[in-house]
Amino acid sequence: MNKTCSLRRLCNLHEHLMKQHRVIRYESNTSNDLNSFVLYDKFICERRSQSKCSVLVQVSSENSCSDLHSYCSKFGSIKNIFHYQLAGSNHFVLTEFEDQSSVNSLLDQSTHIKDSNVIAVRSPFLWFRSNASKKNSKLSIVDNKFNFPFQANQTMIEPNIKDIELNQLDSLSNQMLLLLKRTQLNDIGTRLRFLTAMQIENALKGIFPLSRVLPFGSSVNSFGKIGSDIDLVIMDSQTTENETSRLIYHGKCVSNGRTQTQRNIEILGDLLQLFLPGCSRVKRITQARVPIVKYSQDFVGVECDLAVSNETAVNMSELLYIFGNFDYRVRPLVFTVKMWAKEINLTNDTPGRWITNFSLTLLVLFYLQQEKIIPDIQTLVKQARNNDVRITNEGINCTFLRDASKLPRVVENKKTLDQLLLGFFEYFASFDFNTNAISLNFGKTINKPEYSALYIVNPLEVHFNVSKNISSEEVERFRIELRNAAWTIDSSLMNTNSFNLLDLFKGFDVNKKSQIVFEIQHQIKNSNRLVTVKDLFDDDSQPQEDTRLNKQLK
Ligand code: CTP
Ligand code: MG
Repeated sequence: MNKTCSLRRLCNLHEHLMKQHRVIRYESNTSNDLNSFVLYDKFICERRSQSKCSVLVQVSSENSCSDLHSYCSKFGSIKNIFHYQLAGSNHFVLTEFEDQSSVNSLLDQSTHIKDSNVIAVRSPFLWFRSNASKKNSKLSIVDNKFNFPFQANQTMIEPNIKDIELNQLDSLSNQMLLLLKRTQLNDIGTRLRFLTAMQIENALKGIFPLSRVLPFGSSVNSFGKIGSDIDLVIMDSQTTENETSRLIYHGKCVSNGRTQTQRNIEILGDLLQLFLPGCSRVKRITQARVPIVKYSQDFVGVECDLAVSNETAVNMSELLYIFGNFDYRVRPLVFTVKMWAKEINLTNDTPGRWITNFSLTLLVLFYLQQEKIIPDIQTLVKQARNNDVRITNEGINCTFLRDASKLPRVVENKKTLDQLLLGFFEYFASFDFNTNAISLNFGKTINKPEYSALYIVNPLEVHFNVSKNISSEEVERFRIELRNAAWTIDSSLMNTNSFNLLDLFKGFDVNKKSQIVFEIQHQIKNSNRLVTVKDLFDDDSQPQEDTRLNKQLK
């Protein structure tokens, strides 16, 4: 009797807590997020201009910052100075000038070291020679005496999840927001990514003056973390022919086939490996669907993937950027799901048979389409204006509404972040991956066009499956972890007033599972009917509607 009463009380407490959850107020701005929407092209253009006005200088310690500032001021007015340190105690200072001409004169005045083993290359990556005649200024960041715009509070090193004070916040929603705040790509990270792109662009400028090197993927799609890799692509600028000019450059005719792309990758690999400072561990991946050069930019401390043409991926980044900025709940939900998948080893840094961050992001977006928090892609396509039309060189139609603030909002979904997180796990835990393909274009499932363990229609190249790489074993593991996550959140809310996000990152606990299965079997034996969560806690309850635990039984 006592057991029954206390378990009933738990159920009441759960209901009470669930009601409480509905009235949580977030620190974040929950008003229409699109009011401050910045067009993707504008964002890219501003960041590129910033990188053209910037140089990255290696210094012996942060004490050199003041000295470097006064030295660089000779070349023009400095807008911003950022200091960061990489593992191995290398110190770097990113210096942004007001004007690009200052960078040009700084580079003109900079020198090369006299060493026959070092190839002289002009690039925005430099090092600051200590001044033997002058003692280093002992100013430190904590002295806070700099009279220039010094930014010292940004890091290039992703914090360990355990060092984020998640357990100091009671509400799961606020923990999700904190996770986003502490791990998302910061300003300096974005600046350095664009500078990394600019290094390649500058190196190619002499021979390919019309080429631009652009970051794409998580560096710019609003879902990037501090430690995310940099995806780069060399693009031809859209130029219009000057019909009045009678002098025309001779060009080289190439068959624009895959073999040509693979050869370009080989040559780029050589260029990076032999001549470009900071580029190390260069690998040419010529056999991939999109051939790339993989390398590490040591001054920035980030891995890079450079492709020679992948215009569709750039448009895909813009599409994701629009969704990421559509509603304040999109990014914290994507970040939490990606972190969950990383912590329980569903994802892996090396490519393979497992789910990728890109696929996971699309799954979250699809779920948010079901919740009517973001629109389906068809809606964006239908609303496209003339200046939104984009057809890639390969003929792929990437036309969709770019200015999402122009889209009228139809349904107001007020669900909180914790409800959405639980909702995501529940939705996909009972999803029929066997027969259904996921189409973000229509915002609903369609029949699988062909067999693949997980089928996510590529939103821009609809004949491709984004998650073709995933094996059925990995999908099964994914499904088990989804059920476990839903169970962990739900049962925790039953027992305590608070939920620590870290509990979610522990993953599937075999012992806990066996205990649940044992209890279910025990109940089934005694009652000979469908058992529910409530049944487990309440000896004399009546059969209930299907619950999560029933789903676990399936
Ligand atoms: N991409 C794509 N189709 C795929 C895989 C990737 O269009 N099957 C594009 C997407 O625009 C994706 C980008 O290539 O964002 C980069 O891929 P990847 O680095 O794998 O994913 P990210 O989104 O950058 O995520 P991460 O932070 O894990 O690098
Ligand atoms: Mg990436």
